[in-house]
Amino acid sequence: WDEKRISKILAGMTLAEKVGQMTQPEIGAITPEEVGQYGIGSVLNGGGSWPGRDKHASQKAWLDLADAYWKASVATRTKIPVIWGIDAVHGNNNVYGATIFPHNIGLGAAHDPCLVRDIGEATAAQIRATGQDWAFAPTLAVVRDDRWGRTYEGFSEDPRITRAYGYEAVKGLQGGNSHGLSDKGVIATAKHFIGDGGTDRGVDQGVNKSSEAEMINIHGQGYYGALAAGAQTVMASFNSWTNADLGIAEGKMHGSKKALTDILKQKMGFDGVVVSDWNGIGQVEGCTNASCPRAINAGIDVVMVPNDWKAFIANTIAQVESGQIPVARVDDAVRRILRVKLRAGVFEAPKPSSRPFARSGDALQARKLAREAVRESQVLLKNNGRVLPLAPRSKVLVVGKSADSLQNQTGGWSLTWQGTGNTNADFPNGTTILGGLREVLGAENVTFSETADGVDPSAYDAVIAVIGETPYAEGVGDLGRRSLEAAKIYPGDLAVLDKVYGKGAPVVTVYVAGRPLWVNKEINRSDAFVAAWLPGTEGGGVADQLVRASRHYEGYTGKLSYSWPKGACQTPLNAGAEGYDPLFPLGYGLRSGQNSAIGHLDENVPETGCGSNGGGGTATDPLEIFNRTDVAPYKSFIGSPENWGGTEIGVDGTAAHAEINVVPSDVNVQQDGLKATWTGTGPGQIYMQDPAGGSDLRGYPNADGALVFDTIVHQAPAA
Ligand code: IFM
Repeated sequence: WDEKRISKILAGMTLAEKVGQMTQPEIGAITPEEVGQYGIGSVLNGGGSWPGRDKHASQKAWLDLADAYWKASVATRTKIPVIWGIDAVHGNNNVYGATIFPHNIGLGAAHDPCLVRDIGEATAAQIRATGQDWAFAPTLAVVRDDRWGRTYEGFSEDPRITRAYGYEAVKGLQGGNSHGLSDKGVIATAKHFIGDGGTDRGVDQGVNKSSEAEMINIHGQGYYGALAAGAQTVMASFNSWTNADLGIAEGKMHGSKKALTDILKQKMGFDGVVVSDWNGIGQVEGCTNASCPRAINAGIDVVMVPNDWKAFIANTIAQVESGQIPVARVDDAVRRILRVKLRAGVFEAPKPSSRPFARSGDALQARKLAREAVRESQVLLKNNGRVLPLAPRSKVLVVGKSADSLQNQTGGWSLTWQGTGNTNADFPNGTTILGGLREVLGAENVTFSETADGVDPSAYDAVIAVIGETPYAEGVGDLGRRSLEAAKIYPGDLAVLDKVYGKGAPVVTVYVAGRPLWVNKEINRSDAFVAAWLPGTEGGGVADQLVRASRHYEGYTGKLSYSWPKGACQTPLNAGAEGYDPLFPLGYGLRSGQNSAIGHLDENVPETGCGSNGGGGTATDPLEIFNRTDVAPYKSFIGSPENWGGTEIGVDGTAAHAEINVVPSDVNVQQDGLKATWTGTGPGQIYMQDPAGGSDLRGYPNADGALVFDTIVHQAPAA
């Protein structure tokens, strides 16, 4: 791309054309003609919106609409192509027939950064096949309270995992190098900035009460990964940020200049586009859905779906003319939009249906990858008496509401927004867990009774109970002040387990859920317990791991990326916090064949509901979380905790603006001004120093030659 070219385009644009670029209507609310008439910069379809409002819209229908929008845009005076964004958060999950991958919580447990990248690439191919250019993914929430209904969209409670996987997800989606996107890539969105996973009591769109250091050290870490990988857009978060003790009262993130401009654009050096969330501007103090100078002045560049987008355009033009919004701010926003479009190559690209990868089908390759991802994401939590793996051709009784439900397997953001209202027929390429078991064990060895009524478990080698959560997405799944007690939310599951447990055959529970819940009662009624998360459309991957020597059997390798509670009200529960006492800690996961010998768990539930958590930070130094060394190696590291003076530190070729001191005798580290590069795999150390004095972080290569930072000499922030 070329900044001079951008300046030239900008110089020739009217104010109305500029505001048009900043406006992003929903496909149901705008015709192709209007895209041309108003010079609209981008359109979106949220979860549960399809061309012609047809849930089963064909690939051709998607491409035809994409072509129509594109043609209208390039026929305008400015000829700036429109781009189309979509919530493809686990595959292109809005599209009928697409393979749907496990939600991020499962990928976090899979412990395999390459897998995250591969899924990003496959998702980008799926998106291009239906004519979009832009994925509103990955979600980089560091989830600190599992009552949040979007817990499953986050990779982990651990900022390090989120940072590493954020990097891989963006690399996969965008392809190419850090700026130009490859022919098969799409524009990625790191979301939701900042603090979405750390609101008080896990309330969606609630208040994050973290300190500024916690905001950066915990909730900001994913963005360092995503930005290092070249993420071109960042979505603002619905949450607000308030910490009375520290005098932080930023209000809604959509109106926070501190968050969007001072931290993201300036300190973190982000030169791409900040897009608002759906009507996010309307929640900012003093704003409506159709008017919000404060959000634009705070740093929002593209406004997603103002309800009445025509009124939004008219109001914004008037606000610029009256000086409420500086012209320079609008120019900066449009410069960013043009920069991203040029980097993505859309100016040179032909109509969407003629681009590389358009019209390609949902490749078998994607299904294989998804099944692999499901296998890797499974975490074996209990295996008393080595029940698992089952012997080949075991005779099993399958029970439970989620055994034959692609709706429950895929969860929220699957064809519909909340993931509800779907049937198995809505996923023509999907396999339920029951279907997978029939494939792996032979249909003649599998008996299914969803409710387990009138069955005799003793006639089988094992009972497989597939239970857990039903779908939800924004807002709906929030438990708020309520506890994480699964038995209270899904009493039917316990009833099913009661019918089969202790009746002559071992019970294997497969738990399909978007978060850790308090499941002591369910675990007590199971000989083996597997966390299957929300595996998506490839239920065969769950079956593969249950049966020894099935064709794809690999044995359990998944490790928890979220701590599992010991009590119904034990939330927030995050590794590194004082008094950390989980049922299963971060990183826990049995190997196949390992005997867990877990005794009877406490089933007492506190009388009262759970209270406030104060905002998703931790009671202790958040940097202690970085002590984990069992996560996959990082290729690079960038960090700028606030107590390092708010500066960037780069290793391995990234830009650096802080002091990096290489231990004098070290031959493995070459320092070039403010940049340090590891040149070998031998021992060595880098100290990253707060310019104000004192060592904050020491990094060195581990036994595998990967660069790790596991020794923290944390100092209190300078006053
Ligand atoms: O991208 C999403 C976001 O994650 C939540 N609100 C709606 C947006 C668009 O659908």
